[in-house]
Amino acid sequence: MRYQKIVILTGAGISAESGIPTFRDKDGLWSKFDLEEVATPEGFARNPDLVHEFYNARRRDLLKVEPNAAHYALARLEREYPGEVLLVTQNVDDLHERAGSKRLLHMHGELLKVRCEACQGVFPETGAISTKTPCPACGAVGKLRPHVVWFGEMPFHLEEIYRALQECDLFLAIGTSGTVYPAAGFVQVARRAGAWCVELNLEPSAVTDLFHEHHFGPASQVVPAYVEKLLAEARKSR
Ligand code: OAD
Repeated sequence: MRYQKIVILTGAGISAESGIPTFRDKDGLWSKFDLEEVATPEGFARNPDLVHEFYNARRRDLLKVEPNAAHYALARLEREYPGEVLLVTQNVDDLHERAGSKRLLHMHGELLKVRCEACQGVFPETGAISTKTPCPACGAVGKLRPHVVWFGEMPFHLEEIYRALQECDLFLAIGTSGTVYPAAGFVQVARRAGAWCVELNLEPSAVTDLFHEHHFGPASQVVPAYVEKLLAEARKSR
């Protein structure tokens, strides 16, 4: 088997064909909404109702969509590959889990969870919240926020992610524009650690030159094809 430890980074592009808009493509979320208003702690402090409305709508939309062939292919890779597979996603949707992925880190948080700024409890939430919703644990009112990472905040699980990047021998980046750090810098860390780095994306990302290998096309096609290749190689070397 060629690779013992695989780390996979996914971004909005993997969920695009499920019907979730990306951020920076034409018609992407950041062409319709002001990032400063809905995805920063300062924006939330200024107008929490607007921020709740934005995430309530995204939660509502998420419940209407399904994982696509790319999500299912990555879950299959985790199940069938004889080595270690760690999935790190920048996405706040739950499509990887619904497709069956288990070893999964949500570095930018999860849309279907909320957090209380008073007691720091994290709670599942599939509906709408507002500044009037009490915390289900401590009862504080006006303290719930989406459990997502905003600009200027520290992503989750970084220690575990960097450890895995240092140890991996294959790094895949799927459906991400390579413009938001620290995720955009993961390829550099993996590459320095000696990993083979592969980009699977609709088009070259901002950090495309750092990858050894590229497969351009829709995730629902290029990801299953690449997974099939990895599994076939692993079967052959047994
Ligand atoms: P972007 O919207 O920046 O980039 C999406 C990438 O997916 C682009 O490179 C597209 O070419 C590619 N893409 C689009 N459709 C695709 C398809 N069908 N198949 C394969 N690739 C496709 O999204 P991210 O890179 O995920 O952070 O953005 C990173 C972070 O910026 C997000 O997690 C979010 C955002 O602001 C926070 O909110 C903190």
